[in-house]
Amino acid sequence: MFEIRFEPDGNKIHISEPMTLLEAAERAGIIINAVCGGAGTCNKCMVEVEGRLVRACQTRADRDMIVTIPDTSRFFEQKILQEGIDNLDRIDPLVCKHYVNITEPTLDNLRSDADRLIDAVNDNSQAQHHTCHNHAGTSSGTTTITWQLLKKLPSIYRNHSYALTTVCHDGSVFALEPGDTTQNLHGVAVDVGTTTVVASLINLQTGKTIAIASQTNPQVTFGDDVISRIDYSAQNPDGLEQLQRRIINGLNQLIANLCEKSVIKPWQIYELTAAGNATMQHILLGLPVEQIAQAPYVSAVSSAVNVPAASLGLDIHPEANVYVMPSVAAHVGGDTVAVGLATAMRHSSQINLALDIGTNGELILGNSQRLLTCSTAAGPAFEGARIAQGIRGAAGAIERVHIEDGQVHITVIGGVPPTGICGSGLIDALAELLNVGIIADTGRMLDLDELPANIPQSLKERLIKHDDKPAFVLATAEQSKHNQEVLLTQRDVREAQLAKAAIAAGITTLMNEFGITLNQVDNLYLAGAFGNYIRPESARRIGLIPNLPLEKIQFVGNAASTGAKQALLSRQARKHAEELGKFLEYIELAGRTDFQNIFSEQMMF
Ligand code: FES
Repeated sequence: MFEIRFEPDGNKIHISEPMTLLEAAERAGIIINAVCGGAGTCNKCMVEVEGRLVRACQTRADRDMIVTIPDTSRFFEQKILQEGIDNLDRIDPLVCKHYVNITEPTLDNLRSDADRLIDAVNDNSQAQHHTCHNHAGTSSGTTTITWQLLKKLPSIYRNHSYALTTVCHDGSVFALEPGDTTQNLHGVAVDVGTTTVVASLINLQTGKTIAIASQTNPQVTFGDDVISRIDYSAQNPDGLEQLQRRIINGLNQLIANLCEKSVIKPWQIYELTAAGNATMQHILLGLPVEQIAQAPYVSAVSSAVNVPAASLGLDIHPEANVYVMPSVAAHVGGDTVAVGLATAMRHSSQINLALDIGTNGELILGNSQRLLTCSTAAGPAFEGARIAQGIRGAAGAIERVHIEDGQVHITVIGGVPPTGICGSGLIDALAELLNVGIIADTGRMLDLDELPANIPQSLKERLIKHDDKPAFVLATAEQSKHNQEVLLTQRDVREAQLAKAAIAAGITTLMNEFGITLNQVDNLYLAGAFGNYIRPESARRIGLIPNLPLEKIQFVGNAASTGAKQALLSRQARKHAEELGKFLEYIELAGRTDFQNIFSEQMMF
């Protein structure tokens, strides 16, 4: 047995088998940044052991050790965007309840237990046909009873009473509760992001969100992006099961959290809907993912999937249905369909462009006649990865940069001394340095002797050399938490340039395919957490978003959550999502020479 103690937390674990410090820390309840998933290439997992800095993913915990984890290597909960727009006009969930009085059998009425239940449900449903369409409008047109419930039906009648509440899904009765529980009808909508997971508990009668809970996707220790997760699944015999277990456990924690906040029992949650990118949805369902990352890149399934909660191990009503959103292609998943649903683009005569920037950039362009979609490998630059001092949008991250009268003003999340820079800060810094002329339109950071004469001395002093290349000091050592300057390096500018060029080229390719120019775009919807935190002026200045008037730009928040919520609350919305999955025309950018050419042109700021 060895003892591994983690400082400054003081958490200890005892292990009998050697493992990496990355795994050991996780067992001790500390999540270390593992951008590359432990491949040893990102250097974001540095920890101190016996006075030396080592990579946690490459160092074995094979003796008693004291490990110090610096803040910069910790995975902090980032600001999570929980709410989005809501344009649902009718609440019509697939789950419904009916309080029924079953006719007791007599020698004159020998109808089966099941038939008497169905009669009662149909009578009740007709009586309140304004609110329940689940029995008249089912695919079979009739009410049915699940086999699981049939097995219990005779004993429920005789042990409880004949006054019961039925719980039905799409016309199928799957549970019976003694007495009248019709007021208690809930579902959960989940946005399964690569980095964060947001779960909302919804009252299925009022459509109101009762509680929201969010957490970092517990798969992050297997890597920051979907490719690292797919690699993990490919390289480990039980990799997929491990990844699936992580997300299921994470969802169960969120569900427990929601229940605690709202005094609702997990078994009173009767349906769960989930939206995520195709990889996240596949892993949730335990479907193979390797083919998503291999040319020609295909999904195992792109239609919506319905699966019983119990078979996934989710702690809600065991007979509850889990609905996973339809997707379009291996790189355009249910979250993009959810963006389309939440922005009602399928029903608009105007030309709309929706942009969801995360690890990848997903785009939708068009109107009710035609909707095109693509995914660009925007790279994780804007999420902090591959940026020298890039960190997530969590406490200590510079999120705003403004230069005025030669002074650099920074805003740090949490109001604490800065430790690094997050995506919105990076975009601001680039825009401001382009404006003052320290970065040229080619993306080159100028040397001191090349700077225009009008640049104030106070800014010149911030231009230093880092690895023999120019770098700009955003926060001085005295300002920062670890007495170490926070820099924007030449290499960071290049990373951001690649990411913005990929998105801009994706947008131009879709516009060309659609046959329009930028001035014909009526609205730009910015979705996702990232969209909500950036300053549109800065994003526009660096060319990350197109040069449209600000009044055409609208933040739509966490559209994936909104889409999942709409699918939970409305049969119609679910139908729309399924139509949208088929209607969206996927444009594969890989291998297109026009995309490559546009991409090169878009490298200029
Ligand atoms: Fe250790 Fe990337 S180098 S996780």
